[in-house]
Amino acid sequence: MLDVKSINTFYGLSHILFDLSITVSKGEVVGLLGRNGAGKSTTMRSIMGLTPPKEGSVIFKGEDVTGVKPFRLFRKGIGYVPDDRRVFADLSVDDNLEIVYKQDTTWNKDRVYELFPALAEIKTRRAGHLSGGEQQMLTIARALMGSPELLLLDEPTEGLAPLIVRNLEEQILKLRDAGISILLSEQNVRSALKIITRAYVIDIGRIRFHGTVAELDANEEIKKKYLMV
Ligand SMILES: Nc1ncnc2c1ncn2[C@@H]1O[C@H](COP(=O)(O)OP(=O)(O)OP(=O)(O)O)[C@@H](O)[C@H]1O
Ligand SMILES: [Mg+2]
Repeated sequence: MLDVKSINTFYGLSHILFDLSITVSKGEVVGLLGRNGAGKSTTMRSIMGLTPPKEGSVIFKGEDVTGVKPFRLFRKGIGYVPDDRRVFADLSVDDNLEIVYKQDTTWNKDRVYELFPALAEIKTRRAGHLSGGEQQMLTIARALMGSPELLLLDEPTEGLAPLIVRNLEEQILKLRDAGISILLSEQNVRSALKIITRAYVIDIGRIRFHGTVAELDANEEIKKKYLMV
């Protein structure tokens, strides 16, 4: 599904990602775990063509999409939920979904509301008035309107109350059950471990570990050094 091959990404002269490689297979939920400033968002931005890598490549379903613009990737089937939960604050929940609707797709508003009943209840409310958890739900719902085969979720649980986090975990698992492959970045390792099958641990722009959840769980050194759990 996704093959990130040895990318090097810079902000100006600052070298941020170093020969970073990640793969996501069809139907997988893969974690990108790391501390504050480790390079998780930069990895997502590199994949989405927002901060294209200077070296290396991003392959999506066999096609080289390195540096391709975000709206084109959306059309090709990559959904992206950035870390800033940017909703159209002046639009209603319903219009936030309507505005990105593309025809001939497997997802539409009805199906999205079925997955997020709580959103259906507040569909006429202005997005700017929603709580953090509701806004997160809306940004994920909006990404679904593009009928993504791959979804990039950048720290979806950040700043949310424990109960809301648990809700979100269940919804992410439903997305997986619907056949969507997911790359999930998290600092909240405890939450991530409940839903991912494989993990990459990133620190200062380098992958320090990759393996199954069981392998990570058994690796005290990696957990202590890079994840503080
Ligand atoms: N626009 C930018 N210009 C210059 N440096 C940046 C920029 N954005 C991020 N950085 C730097 O790149 C590094 C990686 O940041 P990044 O945001 O990718 O980390 P992160 O893992 O997403 O962190 P967090 O958990 O806080 O979201 C950090 O050292 C950060 O200071
Ligand atoms: Mg980040």
